Amino acid sequence: MRDLLPAETPLWRHAEGLVHTVSAAYGYQEIRTPAFEPTQLFVRSVGQETDIVHKEMYSLEDQGGKHLTLKPELTAPVVRAYIENHIDREAPLARLYYLDRLFRQERPQKGRLRQFHQFGAEALGSPHPEQDVEIIALAYDLCARFQPHGLTVHLNTIGTPASRGAYLQQLRAALTPFAHQLVGLDRQRLERNPLRLFDSKAPETRALMEQHAPSLADYLSPEDIRHHDQVRAGLQALDIPFEDAPRLVRGLDYYTRTIFEITAPQLGAQDALCGGGRYDGLVQQLGGPDIPATGFAAGIERLLLAAGDGLRAQIASPSLDVAVVVLAEAARFPAMKAASDLRAAGFSVILETLRRSARAQLREANRAAARVAVIFGEEELAHQACSVKPMAGGKQTEVPLAGLVEHVQGLPRS
Ligand code: HAM
Repeated sequence: MRDLLPAETPLWRHAEGLVHTVSAAYGYQEIRTPAFEPTQLFVRSVGQETDIVHKEMYSLEDQGGKHLTLKPELTAPVVRAYIENHIDREAPLARLYYLDRLFRQERPQKGRLRQFHQFGAEALGSPHPEQDVEIIALAYDLCARFQPHGLTVHLNTIGTPASRGAYLQQLRAALTPFAHQLVGLDRQRLERNPLRLFDSKAPETRALMEQHAPSLADYLSPEDIRHHDQVRAGLQALDIPFEDAPRLVRGLDYYTRTIFEITAPQLGAQDALCGGGRYDGLVQQLGGPDIPATGFAAGIERLLLAAGDGLRAQIASPSLDVAVVVLAEAARFPAMKAASDLRAAGFSVILETLRRSARAQLREANRAAARVAVIFGEEELAHQACSVKPMAGGKQTEVPLAGLVEHVQGLPRS
């Protein structure tokens, strides 16, 4: 887990701003869900045999013996909230987005943390391919605004549970004669969730899959294929470049038909900026009505790792309007009052609380990039006044306290 220090937070705020701007441009509305959920929610949706549920969740038992888990992903919580709050009754289509912090106990490496942040969007209500296209377009648009090099959309379809059922049987049958060549976890996957074998990093498994795995495309229904062709046609119409990725499977169990990932080569081994797809059965599976849905999530840390220099150049350097310099002991509280009057008028103000020398305080004003210093010394205090000094140079003027706010308002902005 990482601390985000002040040097980095302006970039983060910029990234968060992009998330809200892009979501608004597509008519998505923000949803915020609690930090943890019942563990069973993730077991039932993400899937018992997935890496996330199997070995990455931060789970705890509360004082009442309830099993809870810090959110490792947001699709299931959003679907839970959608069902619980009857959002389907408000409108036939819900376009929701989130920006949240998540937890997965993974082996940390570049672009992979145990606490990380996701922006995601979920559209609940439409079964049609144009909704998948809109989700991929939103994901691509967001990624592009971070200006990384070499963005690639990888697209695949994994059919519905009905069409996939026959395929999984064939896949298992084709690989079972070689089960003894699979390493520990992959042997379990063959039993329990053979699609996950496509994600294996083990060279033995990869070679076996290459040679013996039947093609999922051969098992798709005509409706699966029609849906997929229309997604492809939609992306072409929008000039969104994509690659067919017939071996792409996603690490979560709820997907149906369309799945995709967007990668950037600068990220190295963890090159997925975002991933998502259609999950038509999940709302019903979690106890809601039969509502189709599609969505994606992008890792903010990865977007920032891949971000081009252009993005950093857009970050405004921090600036401050006023540094209040306090020299006379009796001026401490009048100076504080002046600072709060200036803040009430909309200025950003810092005030000396270390009782340093005039020189040190002016150095501090420079370091903080203050536009003006407002100085409270013995002499000024005697006149119920203060001195205003433009930090960029220029004449220092004595200003009556009563007219300070107006005076600062009248100064040039830069
Ligand atoms: P996911 O592929 O598990 O999908 O995560 C989406 C993105 O979150 C990844 O592409 C990556 O950028 C980021 N990410 C995941 N794990 C980490 C980590 N440990 N450290 C840093 N970044 C990470 C989901 O979570 C699905 N809920 C996406 C979705 C939404 N599908 C449909 N709707």
